Amino acid sequence: MSETRIAVNLGPRSYSVLIGTGLLDRLGGTLRAEGLTQTGAFVITDPHVGTHYFEKVRASLEGAGFAKIVRHDITAGEAGKTWDEFTQACAALLGAFPEAATAPLVVLLGGGVVGDLGGFAAAVFRRGVPFVQIPTTLLAAVDSSVGGKVAVNFGGVKNIMGAFSQPRLVVCDLDALRTLGPREIRSGMAEVIKYGAVCSAELFASLEAGALEKMLALDPATLTEIVAQCVRLKAGVVEQDELDQLGIRNVLNFGHTIGHALELSADYALTHGEAISIGMIAATRMAVSLGTVDVDFQKRLTALLTRGGLPFTHKDAPGLFDRIVRALQLDKKFRDGKNLFVLPTGIGSWSPRENVDWALVHDCVRSVLV
Ligand SMILES: NC(=O)c1ccc[n+]([C@@H]2O[C@H](COP(=O)([O-])OP(=O)(O)OC[C@H]3O[C@@H](n4cnc5c(N)ncnc54)[C@H](O)[C@@H]3O)[C@@H](O)[C@H]2O)c1
Ligand SMILES: [Zn+2]
Repeated sequence: MSETRIAVNLGPRSYSVLIGTGLLDRLGGTLRAEGLTQTGAFVITDPHVGTHYFEKVRASLEGAGFAKIVRHDITAGEAGKTWDEFTQACAALLGAFPEAATAPLVVLLGGGVVGDLGGFAAAVFRRGVPFVQIPTTLLAAVDSSVGGKVAVNFGGVKNIMGAFSQPRLVVCDLDALRTLGPREIRSGMAEVIKYGAVCSAELFASLEAGALEKMLALDPATLTEIVAQCVRLKAGVVEQDELDQLGIRNVLNFGHTIGHALELSADYALTHGEAISIGMIAATRMAVSLGTVDVDFQKRLTALLTRGGLPFTHKDAPGLFDRIVRALQLDKKFRDGKNLFVLPTGIGSWSPRENVDWALVHDCVRSVLV
């Protein structure tokens, strides 16, 4: 029943991330203690997560005086992160809470898809209503629930319709990770490895020293320690560059330029973390070619991703390469005919690179399609 509290310091938009066990049972009281006084709650979730945890959340909210609690499910997985699902969530929100005086607290119970889509709905409904993130995947716990980037995919582009909107609170109950399948745990590990690879040599070394296997086995102490370490790293980056305008926040995009393009082009065959694993391999190959990093980095990263059960390649298919290149050109960070790549310069460090030759980009994409 212990909990770790990490502050995300953003002036008037500051909030806490609570990491611990048994937190869902205490959710209602925790929200009240944070000064959230609403009497209505609009809980966005998906059928998998809702089956496991909605009742627990509902009972806890009711016990803390929430008089009207409405559940809205979106389609599970990346296929649910669409404009249509977003407008359906907005319609349900307005339908259930039509009065301005009784605008609800929006509760996002799920992985990164629920958090991104639901956070966007909360950001634009009545020009913004308070929301809390309750991450239930490892990926959402270490990454997507913190930082205020909320979005849906649109027109074949990842996260192209979105906003910056910070949650009031993040409640990460590690008990909820116990119902995740192994594939989803491995997918979250890709983001954990990303933090180690470009943000923290210390984290990378502890994963190499055995924390990685303990994480995959959901060892409670290791899980608490590593999730907290990742959240601190993310909070530190977001505090310096909340609106992604100074280039500092780009670090979180290691593996994401080619990874995002692949994720969308592969028709949801890959999880986000799997696509990012392949994207990190491609970006590292680029970095080695350009001489920003040595092959020792490549070997260590490849070894860790292997231990994490993560892929380095994706099966080629007719038209896939062209779809990836097209998606790269539609990437949010595409400027003046070039993509922005986050290239490692050593374990725990990186530099941005914008002027990479298309020939090399193409080679790196081709190298991960087999
Ligand atoms: N906003 C950000 O800063 C940010 C950062 C990283 C990733 N993302 C986004 O996050 C998304 C990926 O998130 P994800 O990996 O959490 O995927 P997800 O939300 O699709 O969840 C993966 C699957 O696990 C199921 N699930 C979730 N929690 C469960 C639980 N506790 N028990 C059993 N099943 C459970 C879901 O129903 C789904 O089928 C991508 O869209 C990505 O773009 C956003
Ligand atoms: Zn990611």
